[in-house]
Amino acid sequence: MNINLVCIQDFEDHAFKVLPRSAFDFFRGGAGQETTLAYNNTAFSKFKIRPRCLKNVAQRDISTTVLGEKVSVPIGIAPSSLHKIAHPDGECATARAAQALGVLYTLSTGATCSIEEVAEAAPNGLKWFQIYVYKNRKITEDLIRRAEKAGYKALVVTVDVPVVGIRLADIRNRFSLPPHLGLANFEDRNSTDLMRSNKDGSGLANYVNSLFDASLEWRDIQWLKGITSLPIVLKGILTVEDALLAVEAGVEAVWVSNHGGRQLDGTPASIEVLPEIVKAVDGKVEIYLDGGVREGTDVFKALALGARMVFLGRPPLWGLAHSGEEGVEKVLQIIMNEFESTLGLSDSKSDQDV
Ligand code: FNR
Repeated sequence: MNINLVCIQDFEDHAFKVLPRSAFDFFRGGAGQETTLAYNNTAFSKFKIRPRCLKNVAQRDISTTVLGEKVSVPIGIAPSSLHKIAHPDGECATARAAQALGVLYTLSTGATCSIEEVAEAAPNGLKWFQIYVYKNRKITEDLIRRAEKAGYKALVVTVDVPVVGIRLADIRNRFSLPPHLGLANFEDRNSTDLMRSNKDGSGLANYVNSLFDASLEWRDIQWLKGITSLPIVLKGILTVEDALLAVEAGVEAVWVSNHGGRQLDGTPASIEVLPEIVKAVDGKVEIYLDGGVREGTDVFKALALGARMVFLGRPPLWGLAHSGEEGVEKVLQIIMNEFESTLGLSDSKSDQDV
C-alpha cells in the first residue's frame, strides 16, 4: 500500500493514473457541464463547524443504527454499477471491505457480481439492494425476490433515473460494457448486449432508455410496497414536495441525492437542500444524504444538518481501482478516522451530539 495516499482525493488522483480513460471518465463524470457535480463538493464549504471546548471527548463512539440495524459508522456505500471495471473482484471485494469494517453496503442492480455472489462474499455484513423499475415489472419483482432470499435488509428504489442523464464524457468516449464483463444480475444476453451497443454514443444510455420504466408515478410505490415486506428507501429526492410525498407514500426513509451530479445538471447540491427537507419531514422517516462527501468534516456537517447517514458513491471505486478489497478498506478507514477526529475536535462524543 502506497503510504502517500492519505485522503480520498489522493485515491482519485491515483485512479486517474491507472484506469483507462473511458473507465475513469465513467466513474468520475457527471451530466451536462457538470455544474451540479462540482457544486456537490464545494457546497459543503458553505457550512462551517463551530467547535466547542472542554467537554471531555476522551471516549468517542462513531457507531449508530440505521433502520434499526447497528453499523459501526454513519457512513455507508452508495450503489454504483460495474465495479469489475475498477478491479476484477468487483462488488464482492467492495462488500467484503464494508463487512470487515461494519459498514453498510448497497449493491446496485447494475452490478458485475450477482446478488447471490455478494451475499456469499459478505454473509455477515449489513447489505441493502438498489432497484430500478423496469418496463417489464417481472424483472424488478424477480430481483426483489432474490434480494429478500439472499438476506438484503432494505430496498433502495432509485427514482431519479426515468431516463439517463446526458453524460458528455460517456458519449464522447462511446462508453460501453467491456467485452469480458456482464451484468451479473441478468442471465439474458439481451440486456448486456444493449449496454454494449454504443453506436449512438453511451451504451449505458442505450440500456437505461430502452429498459427502464419512465412512466413510473407515485402510486407505483404502493405496488412496490405490496410485493415486498422489506423497508423501502427512496433515493434521489431533492425537494421538500417530493420528500413529503415519500412520507405520505409510507416509505421508511428518504435518501437526498442528485445521483452524484450524473442526472440533471443544474440542480442544487444535496447538502444545500438537506436542511429544508429535514425540517419538513420532521422526524417521520429517516433521512440520508449522498453527493460530494469526501472528508470526515463533510460527514459531520451532514449529520449536524439532520441526516442520519451519509453514503459514498465514487470514493470506494477509487479504493477498488487502487487495490481491490484492501483499497476500499483503506478509503473507508480514512474517512472513518477523519470523522472520529472531527468529533473530538468539535467536542462531540458521538453522532448524537453532532
Ligand atoms: C452511481 N450511482 C448509482 N445510483 C444508483 O442508484 N444506482 C446505480 O446503479 C448507480 N450507479 C452509479 C455508478 C457510478 C460510477 C457512480 C459514480 C454513481 C449514484 C450513487 O449511488 C450516488 O448517488 C452518487 O455517486 C453519490 O455521489 P458521490 O459520493 O459519488 O459524490
